[in-house]
Amino acid sequence: MQVATTGSSLREFLRKSGGPRVLVPTMGAFHPGHLSLMQRAREIAGTQGSVIVSIFVNPIQFDRPNDLAAYPRPIDSDLAACEANGVDFVFTPSPEAMYLPDRSITVTENLLSRNLCGATRPGHFDGVCTVVLKLFLISACDVAIFGEKDFQQLAVIRRMVRDLDVPVEIFSSPTVREPDGLAMSSRNARLSPEHRADAPRIYQALTRAAGLTSPADILSGARAAIECSPLARIDYLSLVDAETLQLASTLRRPSVLAAAVFYDDVRLIDHVAIPVDFPS
Ligand code: PAF
Repeated sequence: MQVATTGSSLREFLRKSGGPRVLVPTMGAFHPGHLSLMQRAREIAGTQGSVIVSIFVNPIQFDRPNDLAAYPRPIDSDLAACEANGVDFVFTPSPEAMYLPDRSITVTENLLSRNLCGATRPGHFDGVCTVVLKLFLISACDVAIFGEKDFQQLAVIRRMVRDLDVPVEIFSSPTVREPDGLAMSSRNARLSPEHRADAPRIYQALTRAAGLTSPADILSGARAAIECSPLARIDYLSLVDAETLQLASTLRRPSVLAAAVFYDDVRLIDHVAIPVDFPS
């Protein structure tokens, strides 16, 4: 495994590599969800192709300075995990290597990124699209893999690829959960023991409410189940069309019930799919 800290050194390493190049963009602090992305990348790349993992805590996608400062950066154990999971190249640039002080270009998606996390985290998806496009260009990857947990991010990236004709095929991997249902996230490590014990209620609330029969009942059921904890504070709870991510007022198209919940300053997101209700 080779580790590059600049785009030019990564390109030099990749010069002689054959087969498909498969990129796993990450911010590090790996949990089993990331490892499943690496393993899937290895399957796609095969023995001839290359798996590239980028580890970069992207400052321009953070809306809260404390969240950026507190984001875990266990680089030694992350590199060991890459090595153990068949990764060929790791790209770990510094913020200075990625962003010139007078940079003046940003990639903005104007529809899918407006609700949910986009509404409460201004500039977040501009930061994600900009860094992801840069990572695609630096690695010249053929394929990139993202986790389905960040389903809005996945939808926005697919839209960017479609609208800008980016020659990268996007794959996704299912959310990996703890035995109690909590979606795995690098932020879980920052929960206090009391908050960690409470946090599975998010997924429980979403899955139970998903069985209700009207949008109003689904939203009020999930809200009540989360808000009955004095520790949890809802950032948003929304029912959206699974494709357009616009607010859904009926269940006639596949939709998604999505939530972001704060435990102190740790913000967790999760979502469940809502089946289509065909009126008889
Ligand atoms: O999902 C993440 O970890 C990040 O948003 C990503 C895609 C690596 C961009 O910084």
